[in-house]
Amino acid sequence: MSTDDASLISSDLANGFKIVGKRRYMTSGNKRYLLPNDDEEIGRLDYQHYVMRLVAFGGLKEISPSKDTDARFSRNSYHPFALKNFRALIHGNFQSPIEERLEAGIRVLDLGTGTGIWSIEMAVEYPASTFVGTDVATVFPTHDQIPKNCSFVQANTLQLPFEDASFDFVYQRFMGLAFSPSEWKIAMKEIVRVLKPGGWIEIAEGNFKMERPPAAYEMVYSAVTAMTLARGLDIHLPGGCEGLLVDTGVIVDITADYISVPMGWHGRLGEICIQSFGESLAALSSVVMPVLGVDVKEYEEMVREILIGFREKRTWSKAPYAFGMKR
Ligand SMILES: C[S@@+](CC[C@H](N)C(=O)[O-])C[C@H]1O[C@@H](n2cnc3c(N)ncnc32)[C@H](O)[C@@H]1O
Repeated sequence: MSTDDASLISSDLANGFKIVGKRRYMTSGNKRYLLPNDDEEIGRLDYQHYVMRLVAFGGLKEISPSKDTDARFSRNSYHPFALKNFRALIHGNFQSPIEERLEAGIRVLDLGTGTGIWSIEMAVEYPASTFVGTDVATVFPTHDQIPKNCSFVQANTLQLPFEDASFDFVYQRFMGLAFSPSEWKIAMKEIVRVLKPGGWIEIAEGNFKMERPPAAYEMVYSAVTAMTLARGLDIHLPGGCEGLLVDTGVIVDITADYISVPMGWHGRLGEICIQSFGESLAALSSVVMPVLGVDVKEYEEMVREILIGFREKRTWSKAPYAFGMKR
């Protein structure tokens, strides 16, 4: 790596942020968190939201990269909830069987809301329900165009400012880069605490582990894994989404599965997925480059090769999710 690489210069800002390269990161709230917190990240998160909603809504049936996926799909098709609540299962924004309750009016909590896009969309779609989005950083919108049944609160998931049993549905997505294994335990305890008996919890995650990865991806994947471990994070989610729910001891009727995410193949869907993943690799660049010992140009070249390899190998990833009910 060239030592005069200006893009890796780090400077602390007074307001709880620091600049590394051209990106802004938070230094308070959650120091472990390694994704940036700036306008570019806001754009990436919103794009990723639309990608995941589309993949969850339209991708399930069409993609069949392996026997494994076929098995996964048939399990979904014949799950009792699938028959009873088919609309919920094909809904892009959630998988839990709570459509009717959302229509009737319930209280919903969206943890680590980011740009708040999930809460805002859900609030528009279910006007009888109330949505509260929380995030340790104020990435969520503060303008007055937020639906009336939606609000945002700056809060750490590890210490939620809500009464016991005050929500009917808790949703949490893409927090794999936020918590250490012991913090996951605290987070789950908090979720269970604020959830009403009979209420539902849903956890959805992305995945850096690829199926059929090209050789070019190995080095970056190892670097991401090493770098997250060094920060006390485990990107492989201890126990997976299902394990997190099981370990609470009070969540029952658990359904766990994954959404198949094609990287640069499977038509337009694959194109937007690879675009989104490329943006994730770019968002991680400032923290991954020092581990790899490469400069910006070299990293960009590695990413370019990886994305070409994804298309050639028809690479895909499993985005896991799990939902269940508090007894
Ligand atoms: C990858 S983003 C996901 C945002 C959103 N859930 C989505 O799916 O678009 C993770 C978010 O978690 C927030 N975060 C990190 N640590 C947190 C914590 N301890 N408590 C609450 N939010 C946290 C970050 O500020 C960031 O907005």
